Amino acid sequence: MAEKIKVGIIGTGNIGNVHLQEFAKLPDEAVVTTITDLKTDLAESRAETYNIAHVASSAEELIHSKDVDAVVIGVPNLFHAKYAVMALEAGKHVLCEKPMAINALEARDIMRAKQKSDKVFMVSHQQRWEAVPMQILDQVGRGELGHIYSAKAGWYRRKGIPGWGTWFTRMDQSGGGPLIDIGVHMLDLALYMMGNPKPVSVFGTTYAEFGPKRKGIGTWGTPDWNGVYDVEDLATALIRMEDGSTLTLEVSWAVNMDTDNEPFIHLMGSEGGASLRGNTGKLLTEKFNQPMETSMTTPANDEGCRVRLTRHFLDCVRTGKQPISPALSGFTNNLVLDAIYESSRTGHEVIINWDV
Ligand SMILES: NC(=O)c1ccc[n+]([C@@H]2O[C@H](COP(=O)([O-])OP(=O)(O)OC[C@H]3O[C@@H](n4cnc5c(N)ncnc54)[C@H](O)[C@@H]3O)[C@@H](O)[C@H]2O)c1
Repeated sequence: MAEKIKVGIIGTGNIGNVHLQEFAKLPDEAVVTTITDLKTDLAESRAETYNIAHVASSAEELIHSKDVDAVVIGVPNLFHAKYAVMALEAGKHVLCEKPMAINALEARDIMRAKQKSDKVFMVSHQQRWEAVPMQILDQVGRGELGHIYSAKAGWYRRKGIPGWGTWFTRMDQSGGGPLIDIGVHMLDLALYMMGNPKPVSVFGTTYAEFGPKRKGIGTWGTPDWNGVYDVEDLATALIRMEDGSTLTLEVSWAVNMDTDNEPFIHLMGSEGGASLRGNTGKLLTEKFNQPMETSMTTPANDEGCRVRLTRHFLDCVRTGKQPISPALSGFTNNLVLDAIYESSRTGHEVIINWDV
């Protein structure tokens, strides 16, 4: 049997804990040898729960440890690029949480570090590994939808501001609100399903009507009422691609609207369409002059998207193959997000600058 891949996890908060759970499901393929967190107590208690051999005193120590082949980055967005670049330069593979970086400039630093490295770099976009999106992608790949000329993606949370006052709602640590938090998942998935067209221009708007009034608070994270809220709570954008196709993106952490709180994507193709709503989906077409549709669901015994994502990362590390969510996809997402924020600030369409 091949040697287990030795994994180190930076950040043992919410998502770090999820990664610990997923690696624990693949004990023959990988072993988490080292973890670290600024909150030493938290890292130590996770080490006890998951039987981890070593708690490093810093991210730097973890990255340079001989007992770490692959680094998982699960810290606030501000630190993604710093640790990703450091890990790639140290000859480590990287699984980086979304968004790839806090902005496109920092995402470009990761791209450059990756160009000089033969190690795997993957962005953690588990939505690509959900059962229904995978079924839709299969149909897209067979050409059943024809040319996808327009798409609509989003995620309206009715009352879901995470960790008010913590890093989540501080522009300097997160880079933005729901757009960069959950919008990046839907942007990523929509572009992937559309066949990775190149975004060229954006018109976007953002609003902050709930957070500043301490309304719209959700259940993710613990509020810090002494903290800061200076990000948006709703964003809308129209993104135009080089091939003429368009994507509308709409996300909120909080909104006064009748919403099912589920992520959605509608793909509009010349031969057929697909609609994703949470864990269910539909394929739509017209035949014999009649509208026809087929439903898709997530199988009851589905092992889950995150374990598939983790297995894919380990497979890429083992074989050297390119992950399905490489640095270029993360960079593309960061470019679009930056352009939406800039468009909202200026009130104008923004032409995406691929040369940043
Ligand atoms: N893929 C997903 O669906 C998903 C879901 C949740 C969060 N995330 C991403 O994961 C990242 C972390 O989010 P979270 O919800 O786990 O936040 P969190 O606040 O629960 O955890 C972050 C942890 O990082 C630690 N930390 C902060 N700076 C550090 C540093 N320099 N070195 C070491 N540890 C440090 C904090 O002490 C904290 O324990 C974010 O980038 C977020 O966007 C992704």
